[in-house]
Amino acid sequence: MYKIAVMPGDGTGPECTVEAEKVMAAAAQKFNFKFETIEFDFGGERYKRTGETLPDSGVEELRQFDAILLGAIGHPDVAPGILEKGILLKARFEMDQYINLRPVRLYPGVETPLKDKGPAEIDYVVVRENTGDLYTGAGGFTLKGTPQEVAIQTSMYTRFQVDRCLKYAFEYAQKHGKKARGIDKDNTLGLVGKTNVLTFVYDLWERAFHEMGEKDYPDIRRDYYHVDACCMWMVKNPEWFDVLVTGNMFGDIITDLGAITQGGMGLAAGGNINPDGVSMFEPIGGSAPKYTGQGVINPLAAICAMAMMLETLGELEAANAIEEAVKYVTANKLKSMSAGQMGYSTSEVGDLVAQKMTE
Ligand code: IPM
Ligand code: MN
Repeated sequence: MYKIAVMPGDGTGPECTVEAEKVMAAAAQKFNFKFETIEFDFGGERYKRTGETLPDSGVEELRQFDAILLGAIGHPDVAPGILEKGILLKARFEMDQYINLRPVRLYPGVETPLKDKGPAEIDYVVVRENTGDLYTGAGGFTLKGTPQEVAIQTSMYTRFQVDRCLKYAFEYAQKHGKKARGIDKDNTLGLVGKTNVLTFVYDLWERAFHEMGEKDYPDIRRDYYHVDACCMWMVKNPEWFDVLVTGNMFGDIITDLGAITQGGMGLAAGGNINPDGVSMFEPIGGSAPKYTGQGVINPLAAICAMAMMLETLGELEAANAIEEAVKYVTANKLKSMSAGQMGYSTSEVGDLVAQKMTE
């Protein structure tokens, strides 16, 4: 019996988690596993009511679950940063979800803005480090509000953080790389950095990357890209990539670029993973407040996030079947991936996936 915490969150988040739960229930029946969900109302509405974001007691409660499914965090009446820091980043940090796993995969029938690229070319994964870098909050102001004001925000990495992230990335490339999946002659891990300017932090990453690769994963091919060039290749030659690994800030930026190449935020899913603890899965698109309550938002990213959750829990067959059903639906059913233009309502899309999967 899996215990799943569901945090529907703000805006269209709840409409999407409902569909993910619907598909999960269908998968549980077909693949013979059991789960129970408990809902938590952390988000903008609760914050407005009580002033609370994610309290320490909430973190302690979440720790008792096997996994967490998150809808979306972000409320138009709440100043930017409060909910993001107070809920999303707090959950990631407190539960030490040090990997942010973000597949960039174009499904059949989905339109991409990249010319002449299809599902065969857009098929890679970004392993984003999820606890360090500019996200630690180290920094501050002096002389704030004066013409002499100084603002400092520090990017930090420890060898420990870098090594554990690289280890996950190498292992991931070994298990799920393009050779392992039978589509290329190598499993390849590419480090994305900026060793020409960030000569401390990415020097550490680069040294650690080659040391670990040489010693423990000699069969995995190693590539290196500067982050600016990487953005260029993500548009021009995405087929070069297999598994990419990078720090938190670059990972944040390049995965939005990746998401748009895979058909937009309606489809992009991610996992905040603690391999030894509680992981949290989310559609990476945000709360899209203007579509709230209309039943027009695309729930596929939330459904795919839930499938990633099942994979992490060890329900591989169910996770695969859901992904295949999603591919069937994008290829044969939806007119567009965009909110309001799918040709189906949010809940009908959930039904289509659930039906296909149980066939
Ligand atoms: C993401 C988001 C978050 C991040 C924000 C909302 C704090 O952009 O999950 O990519 O920067 O990590
Ligand atoms: Mn982001």
